[in-house]
Amino acid sequence: HMYDVLVVGSANADLTVRVGRRPGAGETVLGTDLVESAGGKGANQAAAAARLGGRTALLARVGGDAYGELLLAAQRAAGTDVAPVIVDGAARTGTAMIIVGPDGDNSIVVSPGANAALTPQDVAAAADIIAGSAVLSLQLEIPMETVRAAAASAAAAGARVVLNPSPAPESLAPELLAAADPLVVNEHEARQLSGRADGEPGEWAHALRGQGARSVVITLGGDGALVLDASGIGEIPGVRVEAVDTTGAGDAFTGALATRLARGDGLADAARFAVRVGAAAVTKPGAQPSYPTLDELA
Ligand code: RIB
Ligand code: NA
Repeated sequence: HMYDVLVVGSANADLTVRVGRRPGAGETVLGTDLVESAGGKGANQAAAAARLGGRTALLARVGGDAYGELLLAAQRAAGTDVAPVIVDGAARTGTAMIIVGPDGDNSIVVSPGANAALTPQDVAAAADIIAGSAVLSLQLEIPMETVRAAAASAAAAGARVVLNPSPAPESLAPELLAAADPLVVNEHEARQLSGRADGEPGEWAHALRGQGARSVVITLGGDGALVLDASGIGEIPGVRVEAVDTTGAGDAFTGALATRLARGDGLADAARFAVRVGAAAVTKPGAQPSYPTLDELA
């Protein structure tokens, strides 16, 4: 393969302010100085994979503006091949307004900008790159028809699809679910997509596999992860760390998982590695600036 991991997805400039307390509707609170850093669920997955040594490429759209340059520079520094990235002079780079509370938990509003202009035609133009990748990693901050086109192209070429359905949709198209190997979800997404408000991770995983996902990974924050594939269920213990900023930790997990799957790891081994990467990411501020190299992980 030309690449271990190709990510098709979003790229955002993250505009982050920390607050002592979240504002309610109609309320104003003062926060810290503004930090601008590289984010976006797709770009985050790519940066995580590349920093860990995976041969990685990114297909995304950024605007012809300073944020676009910031995002491209961050990918290059991580080691991602950005040749497929389209600089779209007619659009603004996607931005994410992020509030981080004292507990390290975040609230995010994304303005998609150029991400909304990533089309099935862009995917068709990248068919050779998709066919040349072991794993195609997807999320849902770009148009759904583009995600579906990418999954279909991977299926036709025999590339393995890793799908993180985030932000969580009401439901997923059956062929997208059937392409996911694995579907990577957090607890919220697992409840939403399995249609079970109650229950526990094992039940959600079985339900999602029953709906068509080939395999399922449920991330459980500090409690690790749960994996389910044809060989059965596995519990991956968590790594306890002091959470500074959880922004993009799930993306780091998914990028790490994709890299290991591309190199031939089984699902449980790949998830064990990804849990360590996700834990490392929450110990530092920001999304991409917090992602470890293999040396830093050791
Ligand atoms: O998953 C975290 C990411 O969500 C942030 O980097 C932000 O850009 C939003 O896309
Ligand atoms: Na972080």
